[in-house]
Amino acid sequence: MDALLRLQAVHTHIGAYHILHGVDLDVPRGQLTMLLGRNGAGKTTTLRSIMGLWRVSSGRVLFDGQDIGAASTPDIARRGIAYVPETMGIFSDLTVAENMTLAARAAHSQADLDAERLEWIFALFPALRKFWLHPAGLLSGGQKQMLAVARAVVEPRALLLVDEPTKGLAPAIIQNLISAFRELKGTATTILLVEQNFNFARQLGDQVAVMDNGKIVHRGAMAELAEDTELQQRLLGLSLSAHQ
Ligand SMILES: Nc1ncnc2c1ncn2[C@@H]1O[C@H](COP(=O)(O)OP(=O)(O)OP(=O)(O)O)[C@@H](O)[C@H]1O
Ligand SMILES: [Mg+2]
Repeated sequence: MDALLRLQAVHTHIGAYHILHGVDLDVPRGQLTMLLGRNGAGKTTTLRSIMGLWRVSSGRVLFDGQDIGAASTPDIARRGIAYVPETMGIFSDLTVAENMTLAARAAHSQADLDAERLEWIFALFPALRKFWLHPAGLLSGGQKQMLAVARAVVEPRALLLVDEPTKGLAPAIIQNLISAFRELKGTATTILLVEQNFNFARQLGDQVAVMDNGKIVHRGAMAELAEDTELQQRLLGLSLSAHQ
């Protein structure tokens, strides 16, 4: 298997706390890998460790074959990894257009944004066209999440890390996000997506990794886990009612 991102025995400490206990994770090129796990399992810490926002204490983070474990966050971003944090990281006082421009490395003003790519983004998230010149703070929760994802893909990226995009969103909005991520998958962008919403995960994931206590405890095809309710129950504590 051709892994664009590979974590080997990654340990991360936050201050005195030992949070990641030897994470082994392969993210195949061109696929969407779901990272699932209970609250506090270490999913966000894993994404932050990849981005260099937490320094890994030991182990290797290989991106396209190169060890980025000691690289700075700006350097990691320049190599083509984009991160949509749980907090979305958008600027409420700035317009949607300004938020997008700031996210584009090559753009100094709105005029520098790639018009064709912008049209593609507007097709994915029509609300962004509508609110283009409005402050991002006026957007609904779902529209903010769409802006956060749009910012991450304002320029082509090799790898997209997304932390719980469905958090707090209504089912109809989640359906919009599913369509948008399906479209993104079609562009062969490699995606590592953290989720708690199993219904969302099962509809989008190619591969799945499940974390518990700072370790990966299961890896495989999403379709396999989606069919195996006993395994879901064991790994995630899901019951059938959670699927409705
Ligand atoms: N800044 C921090 N200082 C101390 N401990 C932290 C810090 N951030 C996270 N932790 C701890 O690390 C563990 C993993 O947290 P993490 O946020 O990675 O989990 P998660 O899987 O993303 O959980 P959730 O689903 O709730 O977002 C938790 O026990 C958490 O309390
Ligand atoms: Mg988290």
